Amino acid sequence: MDVDEVPTQDYELIPHRGFGLITGIHDADDVDQIYDLEIRDTDVFVITYPKSGTIWMQQILLLLEAEGDVSSISQAGNNSDLVPWMEVKGTREAFITAPSPRLRVSHLPSRFMPAALSTRKGKVIYVARNPKDVLVSYFHFHKVANMLETPKDFNDFFEKFMTDRVFGGSWFEHVKTWYSHRDHMDMLFITYEEMIQDLSSVVQRISSLLGKDLTEEQLASVVKHSTFNNMKKIPQASYQQVSDDLLNHSQGVFMRKGTVGDWKNHFTVAQSERFDELFLREMQDFPVPFIWDIRDMK
Ligand code: A3P
Repeated sequence: MDVDEVPTQDYELIPHRGFGLITGIHDADDVDQIYDLEIRDTDVFVITYPKSGTIWMQQILLLLEAEGDVSSISQAGNNSDLVPWMEVKGTREAFITAPSPRLRVSHLPSRFMPAALSTRKGKVIYVARNPKDVLVSYFHFHKVANMLETPKDFNDFFEKFMTDRVFGGSWFEHVKTWYSHRDHMDMLFITYEEMIQDLSSVVQRISSLLGKDLTEEQLASVVKHSTFNNMKKIPQASYQQVSDDLLNHSQGVFMRKGTVGDWKNHFTVAQSERFDELFLREMQDFPVPFIWDIRDMK
């Protein structure tokens, strides 16, 4: 089907305290109550700007909890239900009484998240990905996700991303603000590219953050079952079982390429230069380097 023929959806991005919430998916009052939630030391929040590796981290957390036993998590249900989105309607209420450990993911800016995180209660794992690849992944995902407006073409989406007119808002603000909390939260700040480069060492760092004591063999199993190719084969992990109401599976897959540098297949030279200028302006004082090309990995 041509993208022009895709029926218009009922979902809309509505600004709420400087952040766009999606009607039907989020509820502003509910989101506002997240701030006051009581947090347990065992709570874990994975925070990402969309398309930065959220579902990858859901799989890693579940495998760590299961000590690498992949069959036990596959039987437990879909990863999206086991490690739900904090801001999605209904999640906050269930969170209050859920048994520990409460594993959650979120795309929310830090100002909406539980204040208790800033007293080093609970753990935060922030995953950042180079924003050119985020933009490309997000462009494709807009065709799949029914709650996101299907872009006319890549150029149309490029302009929307550059002017923060997408769910998640400004990538730059998201990453910088969360990073600024790293010293007063119990936070691990990692990049998607580090995960591509050395998944084993990232899994070990997460395991230490969570105070786990897994054997070498168990850790190796966590790594094995969270690689792109293996995760893709697990419908509960790769979102193939998410309802057709939310994802239009005929338009693409959640686990698309899983690589670094795909932006080169989409950006024009002019777009890349414009993006570089913005990146330099916004990120000149940001200390964490990003990798833009798979060939730059050692
Ligand atoms: P691409 O669209 O570039 O392939 P999120 O979960 O935050 O929505 O991010 C989705 C992106 O993470 C997709 O990127 C997806 O392929 C990638 N991804 C998910 N699991 C992965 C894995 N195990 N290894 C590498 N990339 C993964």
